[in-house]
Amino acid sequence: MKKAQVIIDKDFILSDIDKRIYGSFIEHLGRAVYEGIYQPDSKFADEQGFRKDTLELVKECHVPIVRYPGGNFVSGYHWEDGVGPKAQRPSQVDIAWQVIESNEFGLNEFADWSKKAGSDIMMAVNLGTRGIQEAKDLLEYCNFKGGTKMSDLRKEHGYAEPHNIKTWCLGNEMDGPWQIGHKTAAEYGRIANETGKVMKVLDPSIELVACGSSFSHMPTFGEWEATVLDECYDTVDYVSMHQYYGNRDNDSANFLASSVDMDQFISNVVAICDYVKGKHHGKKNINISFDEWNVWYHSNEADTKLEKWVQKPHQLEDVYNFEDALLVGSMLITMLRHADRVKIGCLAQLVNVIAPIMTSDTGAWRQTIFYPYMHAATLGQGTVLNTIVKSPVYEAKQYGEAPYLDCVVVENGEKEELVVFAVNKDLEEDMEVTLDLRQYKDYIVKEHIVMQCDDLKAVNTEENPDRVTPKTGSNAKVDGGVLTAVFEKKSWNVIRLAK
Ligand code: AHR
Repeated sequence: MKKAQVIIDKDFILSDIDKRIYGSFIEHLGRAVYEGIYQPDSKFADEQGFRKDTLELVKECHVPIVRYPGGNFVSGYHWEDGVGPKAQRPSQVDIAWQVIESNEFGLNEFADWSKKAGSDIMMAVNLGTRGIQEAKDLLEYCNFKGGTKMSDLRKEHGYAEPHNIKTWCLGNEMDGPWQIGHKTAAEYGRIANETGKVMKVLDPSIELVACGSSFSHMPTFGEWEATVLDECYDTVDYVSMHQYYGNRDNDSANFLASSVDMDQFISNVVAICDYVKGKHHGKKNINISFDEWNVWYHSNEADTKLEKWVQKPHQLEDVYNFEDALLVGSMLITMLRHADRVKIGCLAQLVNVIAPIMTSDTGAWRQTIFYPYMHAATLGQGTVLNTIVKSPVYEAKQYGEAPYLDCVVVENGEKEELVVFAVNKDLEEDMEVTLDLRQYKDYIVKEHIVMQCDDLKAVNTEENPDRVTPKTGSNAKVDGGVLTAVFEKKSWNVIRLAK
């Protein structure tokens, strides 16, 4: 059996965890909004047409913040089409996804839904086909108390109190040639800065996210961030990162090593943020909003065959298997290991579209990736300890040297609890892991959650929703102040320790 050692110290604190690191994303895309969170004619609908079964599962994850309304969709969106009396709302072509948007659901419905879900909103403005004026109008509509054109329009629409949205994205993936209104870094940097300036004058309490690169291997990566942040350094608070992975060659060891790439990507973006800070003789850090991350590839081929210009097609409906859940666990660990700079994270997306939650006419169910996300979001609160992992490594085809063990330890001061999150990526062997608890005297194992499945390709479906679920582990124990646990081959583990 392979062995690994994890080293922590109570005083070696990496960072407090910003709860927004466990955020998610709802885009007007496929069946995310319609049939996902909103379906008035469903037997599961509440009085506002929101699906209660979806809400239950969202609440189970304690999702702290949800990005909305896109995504590529936002770059052609007129938010005004989605507010006011429903009978007067126009249907529109959605150029980004080549479907019809009915606008039956818009920002006020989303604000109501978010309240019910217990989540904050992360709102994106359209910097593809629109600019400063429309972003200002939207912010005024959402956050201004009253007595002005846009804030009074909100009141007229039945919302006396402002929505008070604090986190705003300045466009979406503006570096991507597929984006409506795609821009060069210099063009985007200017419009983002000018829009951001106006928005912060109107509401200085908001935080702004500038678009970074759409994925780590974009040809413009690096130069894009440096140019954009050079323009926006004084105005923005975060730069975005997006990244999706897929096991396209059916090489599971390589696929599970994708977190090595994610780790490198984050370090590189932090380096660029700090370069710009230095260049500006600045005091503030630009932090990271990793506002799209997940596995996405299963649905790619099916999506090429979809009929165009219809409403709510089954688009991007990846059915996630067990190895996807392992990688999602490793990606969460990777973000937590950078919690000093990654403040916002959005699992893309939340329902039906590359999502942990699926719905049909018979109900809602949890995909495999639901579990690591739910465990991290509900148990990973407090501070991240600087977690040193001494693990055997392997050579991954695409990503080079990768540790078999991914691990991070979180201290929840309020609950006086330590939580260990770990993935054993070894496909053949279990691994014995030791962790010297040092100053955490008298801590014992309270719970060991294990997700393990012999079949890496096993999935949860409407017919068999509980094929892959977590179980309780029984081998973790503390002896003489040292935690010893055997992590089964290919497994996700959560160990809670307390006095
Ligand atoms: O999440 C799906 C899409 O992926 C988003 O619309 C876009 O921002 C990204 O390319």
